[in-house]
Amino acid sequence: MLELRRVSKHFGATPLLDAVSWQWPAIPDAGGAEVVALLGPSGSGKSTLLRIVAGLEDADAGDVLWNGQSIAAVPVERRGFALMFQQFALFPHLNVRDNVAFGLREQGLSRADARVQADAALTGVGLAGYGSRTVTGLSGGEQQRVALVRALVTQPRLLLLDEPFSALDADLRVTLRSAFLNDIRQAWDGQATTVRRVLLVTHDEAEARQMAHHAWRLHGGLLQPLW
Ligand SMILES: Nc1ncnc2c1ncn2[C@@H]1O[C@H](COP(=O)(O)OP(=O)(O)O)[C@@H](O)[C@H]1O
Ligand SMILES: [Mg+2]
Repeated sequence: MLELRRVSKHFGATPLLDAVSWQWPAIPDAGGAEVVALLGPSGSGKSTLLRIVAGLEDADAGDVLWNGQSIAAVPVERRGFALMFQQFALFPHLNVRDNVAFGLREQGLSRADARVQADAALTGVGLAGYGSRTVTGLSGGEQQRVALVRALVTQPRLLLLDEPFSALDADLRVTLRSAFLNDIRQAWDGQATTVRRVLLVTHDEAEARQMAHHAWRLHGGLLQPLW
Protein backbone atom coordinates (compact mmCIF):
# COMPACT_ATOMS: atom_id res chain seq x y z
CA MET A 1 0.00 0.00 0.00
CA LEU A 2 0.89 3.65 -0.24
CA GLU A 3 3.89 5.15 1.50
CA LEU A 4 5.72 8.48 1.24
CA ARG A 5 9.37 8.72 2.25
CA ARG A 6 10.78 12.18 2.91
CA VAL A 7 8.85 13.70 0.01
CA SER A 8 9.63 17.38 -0.58
CA LYS A 9 8.13 19.86 -3.00
CA HIS A 10 8.73 23.59 -3.31
CA PHE A 11 7.25 26.17 -5.64
CA GLY A 12 9.43 29.24 -5.32
CA ALA A 13 10.50 29.77 -1.73
CA THR A 14 7.48 28.13 -0.07
CA PRO A 15 7.86 24.49 0.95
CA LEU A 16 4.56 22.75 0.21
CA LEU A 17 5.92 19.40 1.34
CA ASP A 18 8.87 19.38 3.69
CA ALA A 19 10.38 15.87 3.84
CA VAL A 20 6.98 14.28 4.47
CA SER A 21 7.03 10.65 5.53
CA TRP A 22 3.69 8.90 5.79
CA GLN A 23 2.16 5.48 5.43
CA TRP A 24 -1.35 4.22 4.73
CA PRO A 25 -2.81 3.29 8.13
CA ALA A 26 -4.09 -0.13 9.09
CA ILE A 27 -7.92 -0.02 9.08
CA PRO A 28 -9.19 -3.31 10.51
CA ASP A 29 -12.97 -2.71 10.19
CA ALA A 30 -13.21 -0.66 7.04
CA GLY A 31 -16.70 -1.82 6.09
CA GLY A 32 -16.10 -2.24 2.37
CA ALA A 33 -13.73 0.63 1.61
CA GLU A 34 -10.84 2.22 3.47
CA VAL A 35 -11.12 5.99 3.37
CA VAL A 36 -8.32 8.33 4.45
CA ALA A 37 -8.79 12.09 4.30
CA LEU A 38 -6.21 14.77 3.67
CA LEU A 39 -7.36 18.11 5.07
CA GLY A 40 -5.78 21.53 4.89
CA PRO A 41 -6.55 25.10 3.91
CA SER A 42 -6.62 26.24 0.33
CA GLY A 43 -3.09 26.56 -1.03
CA SER A 44 -1.54 24.19 1.51
CA GLY A 45 -0.46 21.75 -1.17
CA LYS A 46 -3.15 19.03 -0.99
CA SER A 47 -3.64 18.83 -4.75
CA THR A 48 0.11 18.88 -5.29
CA LEU A 49 0.52 15.92 -2.95
CA LEU A 50 -2.25 14.03 -4.76
CA ARG A 51 -0.66 14.78 -8.12
CA ILE A 52 2.69 13.48 -6.88
CA VAL A 53 1.02 10.25 -5.70
CA ALA A 54 -0.75 9.93 -9.06
CA GLY A 55 2.45 10.54 -11.00
CA LEU A 56 1.25 13.77 -12.62
CA GLU A 57 3.93 15.77 -10.81
CA ASP A 58 7.46 14.91 -9.70
CA ALA A 59 8.64 15.49 -6.15
CA ASP A 60 11.82 17.53 -5.69
CA ALA A 61 13.12 14.84 -3.36
CA GLY A 62 11.96 11.70 -1.62
CA ASP A 63 10.13 8.62 -2.80
CA VAL A 64 6.60 7.30 -3.31
CA LEU A 65 6.18 3.59 -2.68
CA TRP A 66 3.54 0.91 -3.11
CA ASN A 67 3.95 -2.28 -1.08
CA GLY A 68 7.49 -1.25 -0.30
CA GLN A 69 8.55 -0.70 -3.93
CA SER A 70 9.31 2.72 -5.36
CA ILE A 71 6.79 3.79 -8.00
CA ALA A 72 8.51 7.10 -8.73
CA ALA A 73 9.48 5.88 -12.20
CA VAL A 74 6.12 4.22 -12.96
CA PRO A 75 4.04 6.31 -15.37
CA VAL A 76 0.55 7.54 -14.41
CA GLU A 77 -1.39 4.98 -16.41
CA ARG A 78 0.57 2.04 -14.99
CA ARG A 79 0.16 2.88 -11.30
CA GLY A 80 -3.30 1.32 -11.09
CA PHE A 81 -4.71 4.45 -9.48
CA ALA A 82 -7.78 6.38 -10.57
CA LEU A 83 -8.25 10.10 -10.13
CA MET A 84 -11.33 12.21 -9.85
CA PHE A 85 -11.06 15.97 -9.73
CA GLN A 86 -13.30 18.75 -8.48
CA GLN A 87 -14.52 19.57 -11.97
CA PHE A 88 -15.56 16.12 -13.04
CA ALA A 89 -13.86 16.49 -16.43
CA LEU A 90 -16.36 14.34 -18.30
CA PHE A 91 -15.94 14.45 -22.07
CA PRO A 92 -18.80 16.61 -23.36
CA HIS A 93 -18.71 15.09 -26.85
CA LEU A 94 -19.17 11.53 -25.53
CA ASN A 95 -22.35 10.08 -24.05
CA VAL A 96 -22.44 8.65 -20.54
CA ARG A 97 -21.61 5.10 -21.65
CA ASP A 98 -18.58 6.13 -23.67
CA ASN A 99 -17.35 8.39 -20.88
CA VAL A 100 -17.37 5.39 -18.55
CA ALA A 101 -15.92 3.10 -21.24
CA PHE A 102 -13.02 5.48 -21.91
CA GLY A 103 -10.62 4.11 -19.28
CA LEU A 104 -11.45 0.53 -20.28
CA ARG A 105 -10.60 1.32 -23.90
CA GLU A 106 -7.28 2.72 -22.64
CA GLN A 107 -6.68 -0.59 -20.90
CA GLY A 108 -7.06 -2.31 -24.27
CA LEU A 109 -10.65 -3.56 -24.22
CA SER A 110 -12.56 -3.62 -27.50
CA ARG A 111 -15.17 -0.93 -27.97
CA ALA A 112 -17.98 -3.51 -27.66
CA ASP A 113 -16.63 -5.08 -24.46
CA ALA A 114 -15.91 -1.69 -22.92
CA ARG A 115 -19.48 -0.59 -23.58
CA VAL A 116 -20.92 -3.76 -22.04
CA GLN A 117 -18.81 -3.27 -18.91
CA ALA A 118 -19.68 0.41 -18.76
CA ASP A 119 -23.39 -0.37 -18.85
CA ALA A 120 -22.95 -3.01 -16.15
CA ALA A 121 -21.10 -0.53 -13.94
CA LEU A 122 -23.80 2.12 -14.47
CA THR A 123 -26.49 -0.41 -13.61
CA GLY A 124 -24.53 -1.34 -10.49
CA VAL A 125 -24.93 2.17 -9.08
CA GLY A 126 -28.54 2.62 -10.15
CA LEU A 127 -27.83 4.52 -13.36
CA ALA A 128 -29.19 1.88 -15.74
CA GLY A 129 -30.59 3.56 -18.83
CA TYR A 130 -28.25 6.56 -18.56
CA GLY A 131 -25.77 5.19 -21.10
CA SER A 132 -27.08 6.98 -24.17
CA ARG A 133 -27.64 10.33 -22.47
CA THR A 134 -25.40 13.30 -23.13
CA VAL A 135 -23.33 14.32 -20.12
CA THR A 136 -24.18 17.98 -20.63
CA GLY A 137 -27.84 17.15 -19.96
CA LEU A 138 -27.12 15.68 -16.52
CA SER A 139 -27.48 17.44 -13.18
CA GLY A 140 -24.35 18.19 -11.17
CA GLY A 141 -25.02 15.25 -8.89
CA GLU A 142 -25.52 12.89 -11.82
CA GLN A 143 -22.32 14.10 -13.47
CA GLN A 144 -20.47 13.47 -10.22
CA ARG A 145 -21.75 9.91 -10.06
CA VAL A 146 -20.84 9.24 -13.69
CA ALA A 147 -17.33 10.59 -13.04
CA LEU A 148 -17.07 8.28 -10.05
CA VAL A 149 -18.20 5.25 -12.05
CA ARG A 150 -15.70 6.19 -14.75
CA ALA A 151 -12.94 6.21 -12.13
CA LEU A 152 -14.02 2.93 -10.52
CA VAL A 153 -14.74 0.83 -13.58
CA THR A 154 -11.01 0.32 -14.19
CA GLN A 155 -10.78 -1.37 -10.76
CA PRO A 156 -8.11 0.90 -9.33
CA ARG A 157 -6.12 -0.24 -6.31
CA LEU A 158 -6.34 3.32 -5.02
CA LEU A 159 -8.91 5.99 -5.77
CA LEU A 160 -7.66 9.57 -5.49
CA LEU A 161 -10.40 12.15 -4.99
CA ASP A 162 -9.59 15.86 -5.12
CA GLU A 163 -12.45 17.86 -3.55
CA PRO A 164 -15.04 15.71 -5.34
CA PHE A 165 -18.03 17.52 -3.82
CA SER A 166 -17.00 21.14 -4.02
CA ALA A 167 -18.65 21.80 -7.39
CA LEU A 168 -22.03 20.79 -5.92
CA ASP A 169 -24.64 22.76 -3.96
CA ALA A 170 -24.31 22.52 -0.19
CA ASP A 171 -27.52 20.47 0.26
CA LEU A 172 -26.64 18.04 -2.48
CA ARG A 173 -23.15 17.68 -1.08
CA VAL A 174 -24.40 16.29 2.22
CA THR A 175 -26.84 13.89 0.55
CA LEU A 176 -24.29 12.64 -1.90
CA ARG A 177 -21.54 11.88 0.59
CA SER A 178 -23.18 8.71 1.86
CA ALA A 179 -24.52 7.74 -1.56
CA PHE A 180 -20.97 8.15 -2.79
CA LEU A 181 -19.59 5.60 -0.35
CA ASN A 182 -22.32 3.17 -1.34
CA ASP A 183 -21.45 3.66 -5.00
CA ILE A 184 -17.81 2.98 -4.22
CA ARG A 185 -18.62 -0.25 -2.38
CA GLN A 186 -21.01 -1.44 -5.08
CA ALA A 187 -18.82 -0.60 -8.04
CA TRP A 188 -15.99 -2.47 -6.40
CA ASP A 189 -18.20 -5.43 -5.44
CA GLY A 190 -17.34 -8.62 -7.19
CA GLN A 191 -13.73 -7.51 -6.74
CA ALA A 192 -13.62 -9.26 -3.41
CA THR A 193 -9.87 -9.67 -3.64
CA THR A 194 -9.29 -5.97 -4.21
CA VAL A 195 -8.82 -3.87 -1.09
CA ARG A 196 -10.78 -0.73 -1.70
CA ARG A 197 -8.78 2.34 -0.74
CA VAL A 198 -9.78 5.95 -1.16
CA LEU A 199 -7.61 9.01 -0.51
CA LEU A 200 -9.97 11.94 -0.16
CA VAL A 201 -8.62 15.48 -0.39
CA THR A 202 -10.93 18.09 1.06
CA HIS A 203 -10.82 21.39 2.94
CA ASP A 204 -14.15 20.50 4.62
CA GLU A 205 -13.67 18.84 8.00
CA ALA A 206 -17.35 17.82 8.27
CA GLU A 207 -17.02 15.99 4.99
CA ALA A 208 -13.89 14.22 6.20
CA ARG A 209 -15.59 13.34 9.51
CA GLN A 210 -18.51 11.77 7.69
CA MET A 211 -16.45 9.81 5.21
CA ALA A 212 -12.99 9.00 6.49
CA HIS A 213 -11.68 6.43 8.95
CA HIS A 214 -8.53 8.49 9.47
CA ALA A 215 -7.43 11.98 8.57
CA TRP A 216 -4.30 14.10 8.40
CA ARG A 217 -3.86 17.83 8.03
CA LEU A 218 -1.32 19.29 5.64
CA HIS A 219 0.03 22.52 7.09
CA GLY A 220 3.34 24.29 6.72
CA GLY A 221 4.67 21.46 4.58
CA LEU A 222 4.02 18.82 7.24
CA LEU A 223 1.34 16.17 7.73
CA GLN A 224 -0.23 16.14 11.19
CA PRO A 225 -2.48 13.26 12.27
CA LEU A 226 -6.03 14.35 13.20
CA TRP A 227 -7.82 11.07 13.89
N1 LIG B 1 2.72 24.13 -11.14
C1 LIG B 1 2.80 25.09 -10.22
N2 LIG B 1 3.64 26.13 -10.35
C2 LIG B 1 3.75 27.08 -9.39
N3 LIG B 1 3.01 27.08 -8.26
C3 LIG B 1 2.15 26.10 -8.07
C4 LIG B 1 1.99 25.04 -9.03
N4 LIG B 1 1.05 24.17 -8.55
C5 LIG B 1 0.65 24.67 -7.37
N5 LIG B 1 1.29 25.81 -7.08
C6 LIG B 1 1.13 26.61 -5.88
O1 LIG B 1 1.30 25.78 -4.76
C7 LIG B 1 0.38 26.12 -3.74
C8 LIG B 1 -0.41 24.91 -3.32
O2 LIG B 1 -1.27 24.52 -4.38
P1 LIG B 1 -2.24 23.27 -4.28
O3 LIG B 1 -1.45 22.02 -4.15
O4 LIG B 1 -3.17 23.38 -5.41
O5 LIG B 1 -2.99 23.55 -2.87
P2 LIG B 1 -4.41 23.05 -2.36
O6 LIG B 1 -4.86 21.92 -3.22
O7 LIG B 1 -4.17 22.64 -0.94
O8 LIG B 1 -5.32 24.23 -2.42
C9 LIG B 1 -0.48 27.24 -4.26
O9 LIG B 1 0.02 28.45 -3.76
C10 LIG B 1 -0.28 27.15 -5.75
O10 LIG B 1 -0.40 28.41 -6.35
MG1 LIG C 1 -6.52 21.70 -4.40
